[in-house]
Amino acid sequence: MSQVTESGPSHEVAIDPLDLVAPDRYGRSGAPHDVWTTLRAESPVHWCEPAGFETFWAVTKHADIMEVAGQPEVYSNAHGIVVLNDEQVAANLEGGNPLRDMRTIIEMDPPTHRLYRKVASGFFTPKGIDQLDEIVASSARALVDALGDEGECDFIERIAQRHPLRVLATILGIDRDDEERVLELTQQLFAGDDPDIQRESTSRTEAAKELGTEFYILFDRIINDRRAHPRDDLASLLANAMLPGGEALGPLETFGYYLIVFSAGHDTTRNALSGALAAFVDHPDQLALVGAHPELARCAVEEIVRWTTPVNYMKRTALQDTELRGRQVREGERLTLFYASANRDEDVFDEPFRFDVTRQPNRHLGFGWAEHFCLGAHLARASMHALVQELASRVELLEYAGAPTQTASSFVVGLKTLPVRYRIRPAR
Ligand code: HEM
Repeated sequence: MSQVTESGPSHEVAIDPLDLVAPDRYGRSGAPHDVWTTLRAESPVHWCEPAGFETFWAVTKHADIMEVAGQPEVYSNAHGIVVLNDEQVAANLEGGNPLRDMRTIIEMDPPTHRLYRKVASGFFTPKGIDQLDEIVASSARALVDALGDEGECDFIERIAQRHPLRVLATILGIDRDDEERVLELTQQLFAGDDPDIQRESTSRTEAAKELGTEFYILFDRIINDRRAHPRDDLASLLANAMLPGGEALGPLETFGYYLIVFSAGHDTTRNALSGALAAFVDHPDQLALVGAHPELARCAVEEIVRWTTPVNYMKRTALQDTELRGRQVREGERLTLFYASANRDEDVFDEPFRFDVTRQPNRHLGFGWAEHFCLGAHLARASMHALVQELASRVELLEYAGAPTQTASSFVVGLKTLPVRYRIRPAR
């Protein structure tokens, strides 16, 4: 039994730490909000030793997560961002996995991190993203149109996964013909332990190697094309990128940039959209409110990110002995910043368990905080805004056509299937 009891004058609390990180538990019951509520109240920085996984401090309060994320010189991303299970730890020691050998900005610390982030940050500014308005709006319109006037579907299959795919494929130069294959690959990349999605292979290490190779072949073709024929898109910017000192990006770093943009952008937006739809089915008044007041759509998008928090946590590693909320954290110890818990923190949010599209202010940490704040936040917001507006202005009826299921993943979390019945007005 992997129960950990933390003793101390005021910190006695028993939780099962597997509830926080074991993918199959998320697959069965979704995010462990009851455990986080206990931890926030009784042991906000809590030592966990889940059987079969790395040990870590679970950080569950909004203020503590901001404190950790705001000190990248003390709490590093460079030692990995997910809590590994024993098999992954062993595979890392083995080496030879192209996905692990690659350096992406999310696993860099300053000062290197800032140099590499600058490579693409110009593209992701609000002004840069405004130029994509047409792409996001036409993707949202076409996908909702394709549903027809009424019927039943799996919302994830038909809309939530296709919308970010179309947007990312466009900015990264992926051909329409390759979209389906890329979708399959990215699902396998983030499958975690979900046996329904996992790639069939001899072992997880083998599967990761094969995936890395397939992505590499695909992106390498685009990189070569954009070097020969640069255009005004992110694909060309990355293919021809120079660091501020004038040094070109190495091949693994260029590939890493493609992969991080694609992988960080796809499943997160998909899960936010599917979680949003489920929230709208559960709270039809909130969808009607946005329909009647389209100016609320931006506010609704922030509430959707808070409510769904698709990036459940990020790991940090202490680079020195330090202290957090009175706890001694030793050099080399890991911390998990549970963004999903911060986004229900009673000290920050009024009635945190209420889905409220008018919530303001909404200081959620769904896009992280400080050094590694989501590079794609403006794009994610624009994509979600387009779809929320499209749905809110056209949906007449929306209800479950079966029970939704959860993905067995504790890192990027959310629904796996979402069967719905709908009636939709034609676009005006
Ligand atoms: C609803 C959708 C999204 C959510 C909830 C989300 C969430 C996050 C979070 C929490 C982080 C911070 C990681 C940390 O603390 O270490 C992050 C980083 C990042 N995100 Fe997003 N993201 C979303 C969409 C996107 C999109 C659409 C893109 C790209 C097109 C993107 C690209 C990135 C990148 C490149 C980073 C790493 C930034 C860095 O290390 O400096 N994300 N995201």
